Amino acid sequence: MKKIQISPSILSADFSNLEKDIKKLETAGADMIHVDVMDGHFVPNITIGPPVIKALRSKTSLPFDVHLMIDPVHKYIKDFANAGADIITIHPEATPNLQESIDEIKSYKKKVGISLNPDTKISIVEEYLDKIDLILIMSVYPGFGGQKFILEVLEKIKSLKVLKDKKKLNFDIEVDGGINFSNFKSVIDAGANVLVSGTTIFKENNGDIKKNIDFLKSIWFVMIAKEKFLNNSLSYLYKQIRKIYLNSNIYNRKISRVFDGGLNYVPNLSLLNCIIKSKERNFRIEDFSLEDVWNKIDLNDK
Ligand code: DX5
Ligand code: ZN
Repeated sequence: MKKIQISPSILSADFSNLEKDIKKLETAGADMIHVDVMDGHFVPNITIGPPVIKALRSKTSLPFDVHLMIDPVHKYIKDFANAGADIITIHPEATPNLQESIDEIKSYKKKVGISLNPDTKISIVEEYLDKIDLILIMSVYPGFGGQKFILEVLEKIKSLKVLKDKKKLNFDIEVDGGINFSNFKSVIDAGANVLVSGTTIFKENNGDIKKNIDFLKSIWFVMIAKEKFLNNSLSYLYKQIRKIYLNSNIYNRKISRVFDGGLNYVPNLSLLNCIIKSKERNFRIEDFSLEDVWNKIDLNDK
C-alpha cells in the first residue's frame, strides 16, 4: 500500500484570505494543496487563474496540485507552470492533442496529471498511462465543492488500480470530489493513494482543519495497523489497539461510529497517538504524536 497523501482543495477555503488558510493547511500536515481552476466554459463555474497562484507561491513550500478545468487548456499550461504549479492536471476533452499537452507540461519540468470525469472511460487514456505522474479520478461532476460522492466511481478506481498493477506502472491514483470521513477508507481500499477533500477538511468539526486532516490520516493509520499486525499473525496486538480504543473512556464519549468494513469506528486521534513499536520486537505501546508516527511509518518495515 503506497503511503496516502492528502490534498485539500482550496475551493472551500476563505477566498478573502487564502494565505491564512494555506498556512493552516501546512501546519495541519497537508501533503499538498489542490488548486481548482475553473473557466466557466469547461465547467459552469469560474474560480482563479495564474496571478493568484503566483501570489500564493511564496506563502507555502507545499506542492501546488493544480487541477485545470478549463478549455482550451494547452495554451495556458505555460502560465500555470510559470506561476508555480508543481502538478498540472488536465482533462483530455480540453485539448485537441493530449500527447502534445503532456509534452508541454513536461517541458516545464512539472508533474503531469490527467483527470477523468465520472463518465469518461479509462480506455481513452490507457496509452498514456506510462507517460504521466497521476490520474485524477473525479468522484463528482466538476464545477463545485460540497457535492455527493458518486459511489459507482469506486469500481472505476479498482479497475484503474488493476491496470496499473498489471502494467507495473507507478502513477498516483488521486480521487477528487465528495470525499469524507465515511467513504475515505473505501476510496483507499479501492486503490487511491492521493485524496482530495475540500468541504470535509474546511467545514467539518466547526472548520477545525487540523482535527479534520488528522482524522483522515488516522483512518488510514488504523488500516495500516491492521495490515501490519493482523496479517503478520500479530492479531493480538491489533486487538490490543482495538480493545484499548473501543473500551477507553475516550471512545465512550460517543465518537462517531461509522461502519468501515469491519473496524466499526472512526478512530479518534487522542488514542491513535499510540502505536505499537515493533522495532526491538518488544511491542511496547508508546505515545507518539501523530506527525511522528506519520513520518515514521515505513511500509517496508514488516
Ligand atoms: C470540483 C473540484 C473538487 C472539489 C472537491 O470540481 O475539482 O476538487 O473542490 O471539493 P469537495 O471535497 O467539497 O467535494
Ligand atoms: Zn479538483
